[in-house]
Amino acid sequence: MTNKPSKSICLFDIPSNQKAIGQENFLNAFEKILNHGGYAQGPECAELDTKLASYSGTKHCATCSSGTDALILALMAWEVKAGDAVFVPSFTFVATAEAVAFLGATPVFVDSNTETWNMDVADLKKAIAEVKAQGKLTPKAIISVDIFGNPANYSEIHAVAKENNMKYLSDAAQSYGAVYEGKKVGHSTLADMTATSFYPTKPLGCYGDGGAVFCNTDEELALVKSCRVHGSSTEDKYDNVRLGLTARMDSFQAAVVMQKLTVFDDELKNREKIGKYYSANLDSSFKTQKVLNNCVSAYAIYTILADNKAELQDWLKECGIPFANFYPRPVHTQTAYKSYNTRSLPVCESMASKVLSLPMHPYLTTEEQDYIISCLNSFAQKTKAA
Ligand SMILES: Cc1ncc(COP(=O)(O)O)c(C=O)c1O
Repeated sequence: MTNKPSKSICLFDIPSNQKAIGQENFLNAFEKILNHGGYAQGPECAELDTKLASYSGTKHCATCSSGTDALILALMAWEVKAGDAVFVPSFTFVATAEAVAFLGATPVFVDSNTETWNMDVADLKKAIAEVKAQGKLTPKAIISVDIFGNPANYSEIHAVAKENNMKYLSDAAQSYGAVYEGKKVGHSTLADMTATSFYPTKPLGCYGDGGAVFCNTDEELALVKSCRVHGSSTEDKYDNVRLGLTARMDSFQAAVVMQKLTVFDDELKNREKIGKYYSANLDSSFKTQKVLNNCVSAYAIYTILADNKAELQDWLKECGIPFANFYPRPVHTQTAYKSYNTRSLPVCESMASKVLSLPMHPYLTTEEQDYIISCLNSFAQKTKAA
């Protein structure tokens, strides 16, 4: 087995990113905010909106308080409500379905593709047909998730949404910076709207909570902005014309994201190199995630499927390798969501019992990665020999 590196291995590594940018750059940006005093939705937020819209190739970006709020704001702009069905993958972070249920609509859970682990398009079509046949709910929107940073099958899902006269929202909380057939996630042609998260461990994270909505029309932007601040009106400051939230981004978080953008493309390249290295060198008994042709994952998280997961976890602890479990419970099996589901979702249930997430960040060294791979592969050899 490869020698253990002297420094302990991190699952995520935010301090190295801070070092690469330079603390003084963060402090200078914070000082500017202290001087102008526009703390909530200040000038940094407007500047970030412009930068991100241009980075993604979309008409508008509206930063907000979290990835969850970004999803809720997009759905609010489309007036998603009780009686509406919104199709979501079950193998995701809870927020995808939570945003739907929060608005009183019904999340309809869709199974995962066995290769990409994203929403399975055949099962999506089946779920839509079932809802239509039951005739109780109005099929309103589809939310796909780019799980672990891996772009969903945007063109097929978009086509399904159009055929069924539904809206298409991309939950790109884990995939900002990923590329689908030459276009960055958030691009105006990929989905009707896109939501992302800047939670600290995301590929482009801030130092607290933050998120953004990407949209293509002036009307959607106006609605998202209104819902972001209590359903406010642009005509009369004291007249709130719809229900809304307090979901602004604060200027400090916007300043952090802008600093992080200065190294983001280099970090994405490193993530891709590291992700591909794992996939090429891990023993074939570990199932790895397929990235579609002409697409680049943002490799937010690197997850494998392992049959002897409990034993492997014990072995990784012995080897001093940190790991996580993304996600051991598909959303439809969680207490708050059980009552919504009547569908059979065998793929995501089987995946959930096998998932194990390995260290993944742009500063993982080859020495560290070789050690992780050799520990996993020696476990695989031992298991085969037993
Ligand atoms: C797929 C997905 N959607 C939504 C969110 C919610 O983002 P936030 O934590 O910023 O609210 C997350 C966060 O982990 C996520 O992974």
